[in-house]
Amino acid sequence: MSKVVCKTKRIGGGFGGKETRSAFLAAAAAVPSYLMNRPVKLTLDRDIDMITTGQRHSFLGKYKVGFTNKGKVLALDLEIYNNAGNSLDLSLAVLERAMFHSDNVYEIPNVRIFGSVCFTNFPSNTAFRGFGGPQGMLIAENWIQRIALELKKSPEEIREINFQGEGSILHYGQQLEHCTLAPIWNELKVSCDFLKVREEVDGFNLHNRWKKRGIAMIPTKFGISFTTKFMNQAGALVNVYTDGTVLVTHGGVEMGQGLHTKVAQVAASAFNIPLSSVFISETSTDKVPNASPTAASASSDMYAAAALDACEQIKARMEPIASQHNFGSFAELVTACYLERIDLSAHGFYITPNIGFDWSTGKGKPFSYFTYGAAFAEVEIDTLTGDFHTRTANIFMDLGYSLNPAIDVGQVEGAFIQGLGWVALEELKWGDAAHKWIPPGCLYTCGPGSYKIPSLNDVPFKFNVSLLKGNPNVKAIHSSKAVGEPPFFMASSVFFAIKDAILAARAETGHTGWFPLDNPATPERIRMACLDEFTAPFVSSDFHPKLSV
Ligand code: MTE
Repeated sequence: MSKVVCKTKRIGGGFGGKETRSAFLAAAAAVPSYLMNRPVKLTLDRDIDMITTGQRHSFLGKYKVGFTNKGKVLALDLEIYNNAGNSLDLSLAVLERAMFHSDNVYEIPNVRIFGSVCFTNFPSNTAFRGFGGPQGMLIAENWIQRIALELKKSPEEIREINFQGEGSILHYGQQLEHCTLAPIWNELKVSCDFLKVREEVDGFNLHNRWKKRGIAMIPTKFGISFTTKFMNQAGALVNVYTDGTVLVTHGGVEMGQGLHTKVAQVAASAFNIPLSSVFISETSTDKVPNASPTAASASSDMYAAAALDACEQIKARMEPIASQHNFGSFAELVTACYLERIDLSAHGFYITPNIGFDWSTGKGKPFSYFTYGAAFAEVEIDTLTGDFHTRTANIFMDLGYSLNPAIDVGQVEGAFIQGLGWVALEELKWGDAAHKWIPPGCLYTCGPGSYKIPSLNDVPFKFNVSLLKGNPNVKAIHSSKAVGEPPFFMASSVFFAIKDAILAARAETGHTGWFPLDNPATPERIRMACLDEFTAPFVSSDFHPKLSV
């Protein structure tokens, strides 16, 4: 490892897909490079990449929930099955995060969760934004919605009476501290005028037979830290030069999430110099060794803290000189230090404190803290074609004192639209008994030619992102919070708004009970779920389309 230097300038987006799967390509390129003693570049076509490098894990959830007549949840007995594909890769860790997030934000006095990784004839599935968390939370929101329908109450009411709050003890023993779920939910509810919109939507549905509208408000709580404890460590190297510029190298990879900008901001503020004086050139194993993957959304928390540690060391060394004179500029101070033979380079290190989980007892504190959010969505469906569009999406996130609101709002918007693909558009088709013309276990939908990805048309007509104000996070750098993955699940508000609209359509033919709607809610599924005289000859009211795996 000390003889091979691995460098990454930036990657053009990863979202998890490059966390482990890049190693196979690197190895494949390394063999001819070694044999021919020359550089080898390997670029996969989009379809080959999609066919071979794996997808988000599909999950199957089976639940039994006990609840009172008021809708208070008493017990959950849950089995979750994770489709790993043909190798373990990260599937166990993905399953673990799904199990940790199977409560979403709800108090459940008695919980039993059984998780299983399934070995299948698919290409090995891998990390994708949320890493099992969204799958676990989606299953939770399904049983919440089912309780509401059984009791003929609104899902939002069931959510509210089961909310966790400050001091809640989670099913794995962690206690919630600085929980901002209630203020986020309340601000969202006021901002979207939920009760008024409910009335308007009901009025619209009363007067329209073939178009239906639906709404939903969904909360989220996402645990921040790698659930594997040793990975929560980060290093950085800070070099200060005599012209007053600073070169920072850290173990994190820039993939469009703005990590380098955030780390540079923290270094600039530590030295009280302009951002333009700080440069991050690349990530390189000869500058910072043994880096963890840039994942789990915690990179700015950890690498900014490691960089700050290095900056503080250099500042402490400069302090005796700085206190002797009033220097006209940072460059003058640095030059004076240099002439005094002061070391202007430092290695910084950070470990996330007070975390740990014991799998033998099933108890511990796997997460340093949680990022909370809530989203409202209103959709309109065409019951004859199954087409839909999102009329409004309002999202509230608690990102503490955001390190960079422009980056963070971009992350929330991007995660939501990416999540929209997951919940409503992107249905994968594999070779199986229902698709005999595709070789068994092979992916047919390997590019935008054969399946639908989110595009400009899918952006909600009204799309608002707000950050909760006035709640500093004591657990992370400069009171900020991690943002990368948590907002992804907010797109499930669109899924449940679609389900709400389908309920209105089914009510027209006298079907008012719960019905299964699996992720993603594609136009085909929406159409077939809207029972009417056109579907009656083909499907019964308990029709359950084939699962997407
Ligand atoms: N944003 C962009 N533009 N591109 C990406 O690949 N990856 C996401 C998120 N945001 C990603 C992104 C994922 S899956 C994660 S875990 C985090 O960024 C990783 O970076 P962070 O730890 O700095 O948040």
